[in-house]
Amino acid sequence: MTNYNDTYSQQHAGNRNPQYPSVPLEFNFREPYGTRFSQFRPIRHSTQDQLILPRGYKYDIVATWGQDLGNGEKFGFNNDFTCYFGSNPNEGLLWVNHEYIGNMSIFVTGYKEEPGGPKRTPEQIAVEKYNLGGSVIHIRKGTDGKWTIVKGSPYNRRITANTPINLTGPAKGDAAVGGVTQVIGTFANCSGGKTLWNTAFSGEENYEGIVEDWSETPGVSALNPAHYGWVVEIDPSDPKSTPKKHSMLGRFAHENAVMTLGKTGRVVVYSGDDANDQCVYKFVSDDVYRPELGKQNSSLLEKGTLYVADMGATKWVALDLNKTPKLRDKYKTQGEVLVNTRDAAKLAGGTPLDRPEDVEIHPRDGSVFIAFTNNTKHGNYYGQIYRLVEENNDHESTSFGYEIFISGGPQSGFACPDNLMFDQTGNLWVCTDISSDKTNQGAYKFFGNNGLYMIPTEGSNRGKAMQFASAPVQAELTGTWLAPDGETLFMSVQHPGEESEDVNNPTSRWPFGDIPRPSVVAITRQ
Ligand code: FEO
Ligand code: CA
Ligand code: CA
Ligand code: CA
Repeated sequence: MTNYNDTYSQQHAGNRNPQYPSVPLEFNFREPYGTRFSQFRPIRHSTQDQLILPRGYKYDIVATWGQDLGNGEKFGFNNDFTCYFGSNPNEGLLWVNHEYIGNMSIFVTGYKEEPGGPKRTPEQIAVEKYNLGGSVIHIRKGTDGKWTIVKGSPYNRRITANTPINLTGPAKGDAAVGGVTQVIGTFANCSGGKTLWNTAFSGEENYEGIVEDWSETPGVSALNPAHYGWVVEIDPSDPKSTPKKHSMLGRFAHENAVMTLGKTGRVVVYSGDDANDQCVYKFVSDDVYRPELGKQNSSLLEKGTLYVADMGATKWVALDLNKTPKLRDKYKTQGEVLVNTRDAAKLAGGTPLDRPEDVEIHPRDGSVFIAFTNNTKHGNYYGQIYRLVEENNDHESTSFGYEIFISGGPQSGFACPDNLMFDQTGNLWVCTDISSDKTNQGAYKFFGNNGLYMIPTEGSNRGKAMQFASAPVQAELTGTWLAPDGETLFMSVQHPGEESEDVNNPTSRWPFGDIPRPSVVAITRQ
């Protein structure tokens, strides 16, 4: 493996532009590079109700909505982020987010929303609450090469909208959260990340609509919206552990949270706020990471600075009462600033962007890739992926430069980038999220169903999108994660048949031919 830091400084010494501090201009890494996964013959766009992969690849269903985990628990709905734990490439724990139910309540609870029609019943809300949050599943690859759940494993666990979760950081106990130190439940869990101490981050994203739907139901207690919109930390290896919501990482529609280290060893976490005209954030801890402390490093997430990106000034602006005095005109406590992150960000000069989604760090050069899905309000239908480079290539820097790495559109072959993943050799994998009600229509007709694309970031194919997977009808592919040996790609197939209006006549019958069932798949080479 190339020692990247040495190669980087040799190639780029004296090649720094202050406006664009350290974006690597050209690479000469030897080709071919890539994992076995990156050597495939690209597929074409498709509108078929199938999960289509390149020739030579197959998938198994690892977990499907409602599946019995063998301990009285069932796998939740609309699986999104997946994250593998353990160094054994054939057996480990998979954390899986369960995001939302929405229109698909017709399959989950039988409820169909009609204008002026009845609200959900308390029983239906109870089913919805159980089906969201996340799952820990113990999985194993059999001698037949198929991945399955180890039923009844003590690690199998559900975290739901009913699970008690501890609040940490400045908002803990603050009046802005009603003075509480613990909240009930997590939902709207979209994407996430892995910490350096092997726990999972889960981003609470579109919680607002869910809080509203549930709170307006007669007979169901109203939820405090300030208890949601955080990043949750879960320890899959300890089934008895209480998850944490880290208020220092801000409160907004968190797509994901990706962790890395700065040059002095501080922990840095990047996160996008997936809504029209919202911002990109990063947190930098006060104290440094000490590997020997293991999971105790989690307390690093309780003290530090949350920054918002000012893309015009190319600066990170601190959302901190002491560092940005104008915040004091509006907020009295740091907890209040964090509960109101979006408004504080705008007050401080954060740049409204086009739905910032996943953020991932390039494994070779440390540059920060950010997916912007779209912003149809601005006529941005296809989205972009930015590549941001911190000054001195240091994640603790407060200045950066950036380029548009690739734009969605027919010229690149994909639209609406959402989840990002790097393989070990630096190829970028991009899941697309064209809304279910817009796929195969108008500006999106060209692209067929949503897909998964691989985009080399170096070499002669740099910036060329090659399609690896095509989703079933109205589904989105999300949550890609490679097993430690790079031989299995885990992936969620979320919301197939989302626009169905009739359970007897669904728009998708993936995967089993009856009703659509969100499922996690394991993709391997045949
Ligand atoms: Fe849940 Fe931003 O996708
Ligand atoms: Ca997403
Ligand atoms: Ca990701
Ligand atoms: Ca999305």
